[in-house]
Amino acid sequence: MKETIPVASCEALVQLKTALRKNRRDAHHRYFQIATVTPEGQPKNRTVVFRGFGADDTSLLVITDSRSEKIVELEQNASAEIAWYFTRTREQFRISALTTCVDYRCHSMEDSALRDQVWQQLSEAARAQFFWPGPGLPLDTGTTAAVTDAAPDTFALLKLSPVAIDHLVLSKVQTRRRSQLQDGRWHEHWVNP
Ligand SMILES: Cc1cc2nc3c(=O)[nH]c(=O)nc-3n(C[C@H](O)[C@H](O)[C@H](O)COP(=O)(O)O)c2cc1C
Repeated sequence: MKETIPVASCEALVQLKTALRKNRRDAHHRYFQIATVTPEGQPKNRTVVFRGFGADDTSLLVITDSRSEKIVELEQNASAEIAWYFTRTREQFRISALTTCVDYRCHSMEDSALRDQVWQQLSEAARAQFFWPGPGLPLDTGTTAAVTDAAPDTFALLKLSPVAIDHLVLSKVQTRRRSQLQDGRWHEHWVNP
């Protein structure tokens, strides 16, 4: 096993940005799966859309409905794992992350502004979903409200801060590198694929 070298920045995140660029022609390259843990300790997984990086250029942004089950799960346990496969370059990123939910109760000016900014960038169709009856409720319960220009209370932004990354590349020579954040520094080493 190679020596673990502490680094201030994370090479795996650099690789992730490269993968986003190289796979940008694939319509689905911004979809990834994110798993959470229910209060009963069961894993729950679902597909979401990557909405860009936060101001720190490291956290991953996702939008969701504040009434959805993942919000309850993340309130109990902020740990989540992303699985992201890029088909063109044949590489997988498994990202362990700590999640911050930025909703209408947010007290940070910066996060609140970021939430507004992401809302403003959404299409009409994407915005409309936040005015539908609550997700997961039986069909035909609740009413659809009129779409407003300002972000509704149902609109939440998830900020996923990576704490570990497992990067697997399935090229002719397969490679796998693990990166872990410890005491504010990234430690990276190669492992068998
Ligand atoms: C291609 C695709 C993209 C999706 N994007 C999102 C998204 O960005 N945010 C989101 O909350 N749900 C998204 N969904 C729906 C989720 O997969 C999931 O069904 C929903 O969030 C409810 O999950 P929960 O009950 O575990 O909270 C997407 C589904 C698909 C198939």
